[in-house]
Order: sequence, then C-alpha cells, then structure tokens
Amino acid sequence: MTLHRRWLLTVAVILLGTTAAGGCAPGRRLPDVPYVVTPDRVIEEMLQIASVGPNDLLYDLGSGDGRIVIAAARKFGTRGVGIEIDPALIEVANENARQAGVTHLVRFVHGDIFVADFAQATVVTLYLLPELNLRLRPRLLTELAPGTRVVSHNYDMGSWVPQRSIRITVDSRTHYIYFWVVPTAHLRPS
Ligand SMILES: C[S@@+](CC[C@H](N)C(=O)[O-])C[C@H]1O[C@@H](n2cnc3c(N)ncnc32)[C@H](O)[C@@H]1O
Repeated sequence: MTLHRRWLLTVAVILLGTTAAGGCAPGRRLPDVPYVVTPDRVIEEMLQIASVGPNDLLYDLGSGDGRIVIAAARKFGTRGVGIEIDPALIEVANENARQAGVTHLVRFVHGDIFVADFAQATVVTLYLLPELNLRLRPRLLTELAPGTRVVSHNYDMGSWVPQRSIRITVDSRTHYIYFWVVPTAHLRPS
C-alpha cells in the first residue's frame, strides 16, 4: 500500500470512528433545537392570531408530534404539512393524525427545514430558537408569497418587526406569540 492510500484509509477510519462516537448515524442530521411541545392553549392563540381557515395551507417548521398541524386541521379543516428532522417524531405525528381523523388533510415530511421547500404555505408556524428564526428569515421573506402569515411561539425575528405580539400565561409559565405578514418586495426589512 502506498503512503498516500494508507493516509486516506487512516482518515476514513478516524471519520467513521468520530461519527460512531458522536451517536449520529451516517447521513442523519441532528436537530438544531430539541423537541419541546407548544401547549394547546398557545396553539389556539397562534391559529387565531393568524386567522387560519379552511383555505389555508399551513406549514409547521419543526413539527414535533404534529400537534399544530393537527389542531388546525381538526378545528378549521386546514390542510397542513409538518417538516421534522426526527424520523421517530414523524411516526408519532402520523399516528396522532390517524387518531384525530385528519390524515386526508395533513402530511408529515421527514426533512431539514433549512433545505425543505415550504414556498406554497399560506401560514407558517415556528417554535424554534431566535438564531434559527434569523437563519430562516431571508427565505421566509423571499420564498413565501406576499400576504403569507408567519407565527412564532416565543421568539421574534430581530429587525423584522411583528405586526402583533401577545403574551399569555399557561400553567404559571409565560409564552409570547409573534405574528408577521410577508410584505411585498419593496417593503422587506433589511
Ligand atoms: C421546540 S420543538 C417544536 C415542536 C412543534 N412545532 C410544537 O410547537 O409543538 C422543535 C422541533 O423542531 C425539530 N427540528 C430541529 N431542527 C430541525 C431541522 N433542522 N429541520 C426539521 N426539524 C427540526 C425538532 O426535532 C423538534 O421536534
């Protein structure tokens, strides 16, 4: 074996070892934010503030067990898509949708919100982290049609000033909800 081939083999072994030690299966991306659910009462407010209805297509970016998408389908007959990086949560969401009788309205896609296409959404819901909202912001502003509503649990979008924000207390914990409408191109925040 040439020195070069031996070097390549060593690098490959080190990389495989690192991946195994890190507990991340090859090709599987770790979540950018852990799974924490939005309480039902907060979901009700998020759907209300965005005036979600039967003609909407709602995308929840990082959909967890599917509860936001499923609640919108149950209450308003809204079609919905949940994008979630954890395949086990996709299974949970599909089972929850089956139990709620809304499988004809919703679907859950295993994918990364930073790569997935959500341009068809008329409503986008988020419960992520401030820095993830900021990473998504350019795509929300350019890929979504003007008039699309965006609702975030707890975290804002920096200099993109929300049209409305509310604070509610659920089980002694304070939650914030921020609401934006995607503006036309010439009114986009920098
Ligand atoms: C805080 S939980 C919110 C769950 C649900 N939206 C809710 O409000 O109840 C965030 C979810 O985003 C998922 N997630 C994290 N990073 C992601 C990524 N890059 N792409 C897709 N989903 C992601 C996590 O696995 C988790 O289920």
